[in-house]
Amino acid sequence: MKRKKSKTKLDKINALLTDPYISRHVPETMEYEEKNLWRMLRKHSTVYVKPVKGHMGLGIFRVKKFSEARYEISSANYIQQVRGTQLVPQVTALVGDKDYFLQQGIDLATYKNCPFDIRIVMQRPYKVWRLTLSSAKVANREGAVVTNVAQGATDYPLDEILKKYDQRRNPLSTFRELVDLSHQIASVLGSAFSMKIVGLDLALDKKGRIWFLEGNNQPQCARCKLVNDKMSKEKYEEARRWLTEEKTHQ
Ligand SMILES: Nc1ncnc2c1ncn2[C@@H]1O[C@H](COP(=O)(O)OP(=O)(O)OP(=O)(O)O)[C@@H](O)[C@H]1O
Ligand SMILES: [Mg+2]
Repeated sequence: MKRKKSKTKLDKINALLTDPYISRHVPETMEYEEKNLWRMLRKHSTVYVKPVKGHMGLGIFRVKKFSEARYEISSANYIQQVRGTQLVPQVTALVGDKDYFLQQGIDLATYKNCPFDIRIVMQRPYKVWRLTLSSAKVANREGAVVTNVAQGATDYPLDEILKKYDQRRNPLSTFRELVDLSHQIASVLGSAFSMKIVGLDLALDKKGRIWFLEGNNQPQCARCKLVNDKMSKEKYEEARRWLTEEKTHQ
């Protein structure tokens, strides 16, 4: 199969939607268009509006529906309530001329009332994918729109959060499902694109369901590494060395 080099967030989502097992874990996603915003708000009480080329949580905002006539638009540093008639003009102004898409909002699980998501780093130093680093990124406030460390969230050891979060379930089976899904996702993304490392942003919702939010091909691992054990860090560094050596021999 010919592998594409460039991949936007939408390319990756579309690749994952071709797999019937993984697609159950992908939030409903549509191109940004006025009629799609209304379609999504009829189905979901919260809709995320995300830049196709965004990173570090920048440019992401959330639309919450309180009633047919009342909505809230918020981002990491902005919050406004608007009437139904003002919604599209406001969102259009925020989007500007950038490419955006719409995504079903996931009701993220919380730790001490602050939402969190999960970072899983997968690397393919040779032929098979390995899970090297993991962490839980806990936002710095209740109701936060994004849980990026660049926006004030804190990295915690994943096992610690799985044992203690507010809606906690069996930590071992949750971890097993996260690992299983991460391998499936890495395998599909690795076949569709020339990827040898991917930082997955996965989320648990308050009912315990696992969701794929994002697959980053240049994940920032410095802070995530700090909350990992020695063996995981060595695995990560070893895989990185393999990949750098391979690149220099190409
Ligand atoms: N559909 C969604 N429902 C709930 N929260 C979301 C959703 N999409 C994104 N988020 C929140 O926003 C954060 C950032 O989203 P995402 O990872 O897609 O973009 P990014 O971090 O800007 O991009 P990158 O990971 O490439 O730096 C997530 O970590 C999560 O906290
Ligand atoms: Mg992210």
